[in-house]
Amino acid sequence: MKILITAGPTREFIDPVRFISNPATGTLGYLMAKEAKKKGHSVVLVSGPCNLPLIKDIKTLYVESACEMKNAVEKEFSSSDVLVMTAAVSDWRPEKRFSRKLKIKKPWKLKLVPNPDILKFISNKKNEKQIVVGFALESENIIENARKKMKDKKLDMIVANTTANFGNRVRRGQIFILYSSGEIKDVSDYSKKKLASLILKEVEKLCYSG
Ligand code: CTP
Repeated sequence: MKILITAGPTREFIDPVRFISNPATGTLGYLMAKEAKKKGHSVVLVSGPCNLPLIKDIKTLYVESACEMKNAVEKEFSSSDVLVMTAAVSDWRPEKRFSRKLKIKKPWKLKLVPNPDILKFISNKKNEKQIVVGFALESENIIENARKKMKDKKLDMIVANTTANFGNRVRRGQIFILYSSGEIKDVSDYSKKKLASLILKEVEKLCYSG
Protein backbone atom coordinates (compact mmCIF):
# COMPACT_ATOMS: atom_id res chain seq x y z
CA MET A 1 0.00 0.00 0.00
CA LYS A 2 1.31 3.49 -0.79
CA ILE A 3 0.00 5.70 1.97
CA LEU A 4 0.12 9.48 1.99
CA ILE A 5 -0.20 11.07 5.43
CA THR A 6 -0.42 14.74 6.31
CA ALA A 7 0.45 15.98 9.80
CA GLY A 8 0.77 19.07 11.94
CA PRO A 9 -0.55 22.60 11.60
CA THR A 10 -0.12 25.01 8.71
CA ARG A 11 1.24 28.54 9.04
CA GLU A 12 -0.27 31.45 7.18
CA PHE A 13 2.17 34.33 7.21
CA ILE A 14 1.07 37.94 7.68
CA ASP A 15 4.59 39.34 7.27
CA PRO A 16 8.07 37.74 7.50
CA VAL A 17 7.83 37.20 11.26
CA ARG A 18 4.13 36.75 12.11
CA PHE A 19 1.66 34.07 11.19
CA ILE A 20 -1.73 32.51 11.94
CA SER A 21 -1.56 28.89 13.05
CA ASN A 22 -2.91 26.42 15.61
CA PRO A 23 -1.46 24.20 18.34
CA ALA A 24 -1.57 20.87 16.45
CA THR A 25 1.52 18.79 17.35
CA GLY A 26 1.52 16.35 14.43
CA THR A 27 2.01 13.41 16.82
CA LEU A 28 -0.75 11.17 15.46
CA GLY A 29 0.30 11.60 11.83
CA TYR A 30 3.95 10.87 12.65
CA LEU A 31 2.93 7.80 14.70
CA MET A 32 0.86 6.56 11.78
CA ALA A 33 3.74 7.11 9.36
CA LYS A 34 6.13 5.14 11.62
CA GLU A 35 3.66 2.30 12.08
CA ALA A 36 2.90 2.12 8.35
CA LYS A 37 6.60 1.98 7.55
CA LYS A 38 7.10 -0.78 10.15
CA LYS A 39 4.37 -2.80 8.46
CA GLY A 40 6.17 -2.54 5.12
CA HIS A 41 4.01 0.06 3.39
CA SER A 42 5.43 2.78 1.21
CA VAL A 43 4.92 6.04 3.12
CA VAL A 44 4.99 9.70 2.16
CA LEU A 45 4.57 12.21 4.97
CA VAL A 46 3.56 15.79 4.19
CA SER A 47 4.38 17.69 7.34
CA GLY A 48 3.49 21.17 8.51
CA PRO A 49 5.85 22.76 11.06
CA CYS A 50 6.13 20.25 13.94
CA ASN A 51 8.61 19.81 16.74
CA LEU A 52 9.11 16.17 15.87
CA PRO A 53 12.27 14.48 14.61
CA LEU A 54 12.53 13.35 11.00
CA ILE A 55 11.56 9.68 10.67
CA LYS A 56 14.41 7.72 9.10
CA ASP A 57 13.72 6.24 5.66
CA ILE A 58 10.37 7.97 5.19
CA LYS A 59 9.98 10.45 2.36
CA THR A 60 8.97 13.64 4.18
CA LEU A 61 7.87 16.79 2.41
CA TYR A 62 7.98 19.84 4.65
CA VAL A 63 5.42 22.55 3.98
CA GLU A 64 4.25 25.68 5.78
CA SER A 65 1.00 27.02 4.35
CA ALA A 66 -2.25 25.29 3.38
CA CYS A 67 -1.59 26.12 -0.29
CA GLU A 68 1.85 24.48 -0.11
CA MET A 69 0.28 21.44 1.58
CA LYS A 70 -2.36 21.23 -1.15
CA ASN A 71 0.31 21.29 -3.88
CA ALA A 72 2.36 18.56 -2.16
CA VAL A 73 -0.71 16.36 -1.56
CA GLU A 74 -1.96 16.83 -5.11
CA LYS A 75 1.43 15.77 -6.53
CA GLU A 76 1.70 12.65 -4.37
CA PHE A 77 -1.91 11.51 -4.37
CA SER A 78 -2.13 10.33 -7.98
CA SER A 79 0.35 7.54 -7.20
CA SER A 80 -1.09 6.75 -3.73
CA ASP A 81 -3.63 4.17 -2.59
CA VAL A 82 -4.61 6.08 0.52
CA LEU A 83 -4.64 9.63 1.88
CA VAL A 84 -4.94 10.11 5.64
CA MET A 85 -5.40 13.79 6.35
CA THR A 86 -4.49 14.26 10.03
CA ALA A 87 -3.21 17.82 9.43
CA ALA A 88 -4.92 20.75 11.11
CA VAL A 89 -5.13 22.96 8.05
CA SER A 90 -5.75 26.64 8.65
CA ASP A 91 -9.14 27.55 7.18
CA TRP A 92 -8.00 31.06 6.34
CA ARG A 93 -4.92 32.98 5.29
CA PRO A 94 -4.22 36.72 5.20
CA GLU A 95 -5.32 38.19 1.89
CA LYS A 96 -1.90 39.78 1.56
CA ARG A 97 1.50 38.62 2.81
CA PHE A 98 3.56 41.71 3.53
CA SER A 99 7.18 41.41 2.43
CA ARG A 100 8.49 43.64 5.21
CA LYS A 101 7.92 43.47 8.96
CA LEU A 102 4.86 45.55 9.78
CA LYS A 103 5.38 48.46 12.13
CA ILE A 104 1.77 49.37 12.86
CA LYS A 105 1.20 50.69 16.37
CA LYS A 106 -2.52 51.35 16.24
CA PRO A 107 -5.54 49.02 15.88
CA TRP A 108 -5.93 47.70 12.34
CA LYS A 109 -7.97 45.10 10.50
CA LEU A 110 -6.45 42.03 8.94
CA LYS A 111 -8.43 40.66 6.01
CA LEU A 112 -8.53 36.87 5.78
CA VAL A 113 -9.51 34.80 2.77
CA PRO A 114 -10.51 31.12 2.80
CA ASN A 115 -7.91 28.47 2.07
CA PRO A 116 -8.67 25.62 -0.31
CA ASP A 117 -10.23 22.54 1.30
CA ILE A 118 -7.57 19.95 0.48
CA LEU A 119 -9.71 16.91 1.33
CA LYS A 120 -12.64 18.09 -0.75
CA PHE A 121 -10.37 18.86 -3.67
CA ILE A 122 -8.72 15.41 -3.52
CA SER A 123 -12.00 13.50 -3.01
CA ASN A 124 -13.37 15.02 -6.17
CA LYS A 125 -10.37 13.70 -8.11
CA LYS A 126 -9.94 10.24 -6.58
CA ASN A 127 -10.61 7.03 -8.47
CA GLU A 128 -12.92 4.38 -6.97
CA LYS A 129 -10.00 2.34 -5.60
CA GLN A 130 -8.35 5.17 -3.68
CA ILE A 131 -9.21 5.59 -0.01
CA VAL A 132 -9.52 8.99 1.66
CA VAL A 133 -9.63 9.35 5.43
CA GLY A 134 -10.28 12.61 7.24
CA PHE A 135 -10.48 13.99 10.74
CA ALA A 136 -13.08 16.26 12.32
CA LEU A 137 -12.29 18.61 15.16
CA GLU A 138 -15.46 19.74 16.91
CA SER A 139 -16.46 21.79 19.96
CA GLU A 140 -19.95 20.25 20.07
CA ASN A 141 -22.22 17.71 18.36
CA ILE A 142 -19.12 15.73 17.46
CA ILE A 143 -20.79 12.77 15.77
CA GLU A 144 -23.41 14.77 13.89
CA ASN A 145 -20.84 17.28 12.58
CA ALA A 146 -18.34 14.57 11.68
CA ARG A 147 -21.03 12.72 9.74
CA LYS A 148 -21.75 15.89 7.77
CA LYS A 149 -18.03 16.30 7.01
CA MET A 150 -17.74 12.67 5.92
CA LYS A 151 -20.60 13.15 3.45
CA ASP A 152 -19.55 16.59 2.27
CA LYS A 153 -15.90 15.59 1.72
CA LYS A 154 -16.84 12.11 0.34
CA LEU A 155 -14.66 10.26 2.86
CA ASP A 156 -14.31 6.52 3.38
CA MET A 157 -13.76 7.03 7.11
CA ILE A 158 -13.53 9.94 9.55
CA VAL A 159 -12.00 10.27 13.00
CA ALA A 160 -14.08 12.64 15.11
CA ASN A 161 -12.27 14.44 17.86
CA THR A 162 -13.20 17.09 20.39
CA THR A 163 -11.32 20.36 20.80
CA ALA A 164 -10.65 19.28 24.42
CA ASN A 165 -8.03 16.86 23.01
CA PHE A 166 -6.36 19.34 20.69
CA GLY A 167 -2.70 20.31 20.76
CA ASN A 168 -0.57 19.45 23.76
CA ARG A 169 -3.48 19.18 26.22
CA VAL A 170 -3.90 16.11 28.38
CA ARG A 171 -6.59 14.10 26.67
CA ARG A 172 -9.98 14.01 28.35
CA GLY A 173 -12.52 14.23 25.52
CA GLN A 174 -14.28 11.80 23.25
CA ILE A 175 -12.93 10.33 20.02
CA PHE A 176 -14.94 8.23 17.58
CA ILE A 177 -14.21 6.51 14.30
CA LEU A 178 -17.12 6.80 11.86
CA TYR A 179 -17.30 4.37 8.95
CA SER A 180 -19.15 4.99 5.70
CA SER A 181 -21.32 1.95 6.57
CA GLY A 182 -22.78 4.05 9.42
CA GLU A 183 -20.93 2.07 12.11
CA ILE A 184 -19.29 4.07 14.92
CA LYS A 185 -16.48 2.98 17.23
CA ASP A 186 -15.77 4.78 20.50
CA VAL A 187 -11.97 5.05 20.87
CA SER A 188 -11.94 7.72 23.60
CA ASP A 189 -9.77 5.62 25.91
CA TYR A 190 -7.13 4.83 23.27
CA SER A 191 -3.62 6.26 23.53
CA LYS A 192 -2.43 8.13 20.41
CA LYS A 193 -0.19 5.16 19.56
CA LYS A 194 -3.05 2.67 19.86
CA LEU A 195 -5.29 4.97 17.83
CA ALA A 196 -2.65 5.36 15.09
CA SER A 197 -2.31 1.61 14.87
CA LEU A 198 -6.10 1.04 14.74
CA ILE A 199 -6.62 3.66 12.02
CA LEU A 200 -3.91 1.99 9.97
CA LYS A 201 -5.54 -1.44 10.39
CA GLU A 202 -8.90 -0.03 9.29
CA VAL A 203 -7.28 1.65 6.30
CA GLU A 204 -5.62 -1.65 5.30
CA LYS A 205 -9.03 -3.38 5.49
CA LEU A 206 -10.65 -0.70 3.31
CA CYS A 207 -7.79 -0.83 0.83
CA TYR A 208 -7.63 -4.61 0.50
CA SER A 209 -11.41 -5.09 0.31
CA GLY A 210 -11.73 -2.61 -2.58
N1 CTP B 1 -9.07 20.03 5.90
C1 CTP B 1 -8.53 20.21 4.64
N2 CTP B 1 -8.41 21.48 4.13
C2 CTP B 1 -8.84 22.54 4.84
C3 CTP B 1 -9.41 22.37 6.14
C4 CTP B 1 -9.50 21.09 6.63
O1 CTP B 1 -8.17 19.24 3.98
N3 CTP B 1 -8.70 23.75 4.33
C5 CTP B 1 -9.21 18.65 6.41
C6 CTP B 1 -8.54 18.38 7.74
O2 CTP B 1 -7.22 17.88 7.55
C7 CTP B 1 -9.44 17.30 8.35
C8 CTP B 1 -10.81 17.63 7.78
O3 CTP B 1 -10.60 18.44 6.62
O4 CTP B 1 -9.06 16.00 7.94
C9 CTP B 1 -11.73 18.38 8.70
O5 CTP B 1 -11.09 19.48 9.26
P1 CTP B 1 -11.80 20.38 10.38
O6 CTP B 1 -10.87 21.47 10.79
O7 CTP B 1 -12.41 19.51 11.42
O8 CTP B 1 -13.04 20.97 9.59
P2 CTP B 1 -13.24 22.03 8.48
O9 CTP B 1 -13.52 21.30 7.20
O10 CTP B 1 -12.09 23.00 8.45
O11 CTP B 1 -14.59 22.74 8.94
P3 CTP B 1 -14.85 23.65 10.27
O12 CTP B 1 -13.55 24.32 10.59
O13 CTP B 1 -15.91 24.58 9.81
O14 CTP B 1 -15.32 22.70 11.34
